[in-house]
Amino acid sequence: MIILLLLIGTALSAQPPGFNYDEAKVPKYTLPDPLVMADGTPVKDETMWRKQRRPEILGLFAEQVYGHTPKTRLKLRTETLEIDKGSHGGLATRKQVRVWFGPAADAPFMDLLIYLPNGVKGRVPAFLGLNFGGNHTTQPDTEIRVTKSWVRSKVNNFQASEKDRGAEASLWPIDMILKRGYAVITAYYGDIEPDFDDGYKNGVQPLFYKPGQTRPEANEWGSLGEWAWGLSRALDVLEKEKAIDSSKVVLHGHSRLGKAALWAGAQDERFAIVISNDSGEGGAALARRRFGETTARINTSFPHWFDGNFKQYNDKEDSMPVDQHMLLALIAPRPLYVNSAVEDAWADPRGEFLGALGADPVYRLLGMPGLLVNEHPAVEKPSLDGTIGYHIRNGKHDVTSYDWTQWMNFADRHFKK
Ligand code: GCU
Repeated sequence: MIILLLLIGTALSAQPPGFNYDEAKVPKYTLPDPLVMADGTPVKDETMWRKQRRPEILGLFAEQVYGHTPKTRLKLRTETLEIDKGSHGGLATRKQVRVWFGPAADAPFMDLLIYLPNGVKGRVPAFLGLNFGGNHTTQPDTEIRVTKSWVRSKVNNFQASEKDRGAEASLWPIDMILKRGYAVITAYYGDIEPDFDDGYKNGVQPLFYKPGQTRPEANEWGSLGEWAWGLSRALDVLEKEKAIDSSKVVLHGHSRLGKAALWAGAQDERFAIVISNDSGEGGAALARRRFGETTARINTSFPHWFDGNFKQYNDKEDSMPVDQHMLLALIAPRPLYVNSAVEDAWADPRGEFLGALGADPVYRLLGMPGLLVNEHPAVEKPSLDGTIGYHIRNGKHDVTSYDWTQWMNFADRHFKK
């Protein structure tokens, strides 16, 4: 049990002292306008957004924040490791598919854990998200492969173990999701890139190095970029999965994996809906607000997450050419859902809401209803009817059944289920 708690504990943010948690102490700030070009020209219509401003913002995030994702396409190889048509008491077909990044026999790989709801006619919509501890932590099921990749828990010297099985099950209420007719797909983020500052020697980056290159350039991808890339590769595989409607894949992520999901959704417009769960700094929360985690802190604690250029904004958030509302605007016109938790001050719940609100003018320009509320909604009073949804729930930095229920309600509306 202690091990389980330790593992889950690593996914939960504390509230480190020495940072601002007082709304009255948030300094004044001015956000860059997503609908004004860097040279000051206003964006007058949808075409100008799509052809000029959207690529400009995407380019700024790639250059200054997350780093550019390589354009080279690797040939993926897949191997179905096993199929069980009677998983979860017959509710689901469980599949485990190994995805090799490249043709080499020793190429790195990620394992997809796929649950398809049984007895549903036609292709089903799906929820896709990475997990923190290995696929075997998402369910107590003994058939799920235990990852051999590095894991965050020191308990077993950074190796996954049988004892972690099901440790994150509360974040993955699979039965509830299957019963609502959605497929669920997850992969372990450490299969794509181990989450420590390893000088970028492991993970997928080396597959893309030019001859002689040993680490990414200052404007090339960090770990968040790699995890985002992995999510797109998962979608490549799902496009070939006959039971899934790949035009209805909902991408979700918690915390650092929420940051990665947003960056993946911004770059890859095949994702139908994007959900940010407690993604905080570098995710949905506005950097300029200086509430909870700061740019300097995230770049110090996690120097490998963002690109080299991003370090120049430590304590200089106001000089950034973008802020996180513009990342959210890159999801437009597709549905976007942002949610927060009351006790998650580190992630700045209000800053996450204001990030969503800041994306709203872009949705409106594109003829979509955007976010239907102007004020931070009351706790557990979700705003589900716009193209941008939002809720704040009671409790801690976590993913709960309450969150999943709102996400599915939101997705149902957009998929007209
Ligand atoms: C840390 C980090 C956050 C991150 C979180 C997580 O708390 O500072 O930015 O979201 O870890 O991923 O759990």
